[in-house]
Amino acid sequence: MAAAELRILEHGEELAREAAEFVAWIGEQAITSRGAFRIALSGGSTPKALHAQLAANHATRLDWSQVCFFFSDERCVAPDHTDSNFRMANETLLVPLKIATSKIFRLHGEEDPAQAARQYEETIRAEFATAAPAWPRFDLILLGLGDDGHTASLFAGTPALHQQQRLVVPTQAPQGPKQRLTFTAPLINQAHTVAFLVSGADKASAVRTVLEDRAANPKTIPAKLITPASGRLVWFMDRAAAAGLTMEQQRVVSNEE
Ligand code: 6PG
Repeated sequence: MAAAELRILEHGEELAREAAEFVAWIGEQAITSRGAFRIALSGGSTPKALHAQLAANHATRLDWSQVCFFFSDERCVAPDHTDSNFRMANETLLVPLKIATSKIFRLHGEEDPAQAARQYEETIRAEFATAAPAWPRFDLILLGLGDDGHTASLFAGTPALHQQQRLVVPTQAPQGPKQRLTFTAPLINQAHTVAFLVSGADKASAVRTVLEDRAANPKTIPAKLITPASGRLVWFMDRAAAAGLTMEQQRVVSNEE
């Protein structure tokens, strides 16, 4: 497992710009080497600035017709609900980039959670042509970080954290929309690249715990479960989110792709 690469940017807008460059670069590499770019989008609010950068500055950079969009988690609501991660991505990225619906694979939050999870696993396996027990390998999985250390919809103390076979499971959140659907840690850890996007001082404590507190228990800080088996792990943060890190870590501002 490779060490996490830290990319610390001055503020949220610069973080979004750098992350957009990275997404486009990973996409180019994936299309060149594998003929397609399969990406899983993150939920929450942080990705909105990234989506705006991609839509505004990368519309012609990448052959978006070769990109398949998945979601690393979803709230169990209708796709037009204000809490829907699909709705946020659709409004800020998929519609602006004119992505064909055939290239958009959303989690059906409006359906029975257990059935929706199974259905999504079948969809993923079909799109990757990867039958069980092999693991589909996303080109890029984008993740956020909650101030409690959750990521995707992997929350402390939930059975989802112990899943070692499933790709996608129903779960519950302690706050916000309760019923969720989420990628499991083993699926995330099979990705070629995993990128966290974290912005804001309210995340500084969770960032320090995940990246520097070796004693912290992954079952209480689920983002610590994200340790790609052979892929890259990159953390895009603004200075406010990185403020809790030791000085050595904060000096890491990598510009290599
Ligand atoms: C969700 C997300 C969740 C999110 C973090 C950070 O469905 O809410 O997948 O994991 O990424 O909670 O959210 P913000 O970007 O809004 O801080």
